[in-house]
Amino acid sequence: MDAVTTLTLSEFKREGRKITALTAYDAPFARIMDRAGVDVILVGDSVGMTVLGRADTLSVTLDEMIHHARSVVSAVERALVVVDMPFMSFQVSVEKAVENAGRLIKETGAKAVKLEGDKGVEKTVRAIVEAGIPVMGHVGLRPQSIHKFGGFKVQGRESGSAKRIELDAKATENGGGFAVVIEAVPVSLAKQITESLNIPTIGIGAGMHCDGQILVMHDVLGISDNVRPRFAKRYASVADIAQKAFREYIEEVKGGKFPTMQHSYSKLKLIKKSRASTGI
Ligand code: KIV
Repeated sequence: MDAVTTLTLSEFKREGRKITALTAYDAPFARIMDRAGVDVILVGDSVGMTVLGRADTLSVTLDEMIHHARSVVSAVERALVVVDMPFMSFQVSVEKAVENAGRLIKETGAKAVKLEGDKGVEKTVRAIVEAGIPVMGHVGLRPQSIHKFGGFKVQGRESGSAKRIELDAKATENGGGFAVVIEAVPVSLAKQITESLNIPTIGIGAGMHCDGQILVMHDVLGISDNVRPRFAKRYASVADIAQKAFREYIEEVKGGKFPTMQHSYSKLKLIKKSRASTGI
């Protein structure tokens, strides 16, 4: 089982093989999706909304990203782990961006960083890449710019904004980035960008012509019950399964059905047997 690298993703694009990506924020789920065979695991700043209960991603800090990314990296053997640079960790100056990208790599063991940006991001991407850190771009709907966009809205529907998004994606490639996420744009625009770039595109709400796809884990598993975007396909209803299990547990404790002797300690002999089978 070879570990996925940025070169693997370029090969996939050349060979027309789709790239699969998911977000993860902790070790148990990262392990499960790595074993399932996903190519890229993104520790997204969406952690602010999916895990930390916030309304958007803007308040997520570098230290919070490091905390979650460390946990993800500890569980992954094959997938390429990419960590998001949170809001204001790369916008202030190129120097600050390189320093913060360095912290994300040194303190987590992740292999690459992702940053949201328009065409002005090219010099920042170049400086981080020159420091030896692979960079993934993010264009289209950029959640760190929702106040500028007036909310979580589809981007690039008019020809002017479509052209701008194409230039934004090109800037990541020109700066030496290895891939670019395209979020919430019309299918035709994502297709055009994908065909015009040498680096792979990873779509989310960008249709079927991108070189790969990414979804937020909580949307895929049906964990969160907040707003579900049109593009987020649900493959399971984990919230329902979890709620059923929690209800059953509550009923059993209240009804005196749990714990029984099966889950309790008694004589030495029993303890030994339980240790052999469960490790405690
Ligand atoms: O933060 C995130 O989860 C992302 C993905 C939606 C691409 O940026």
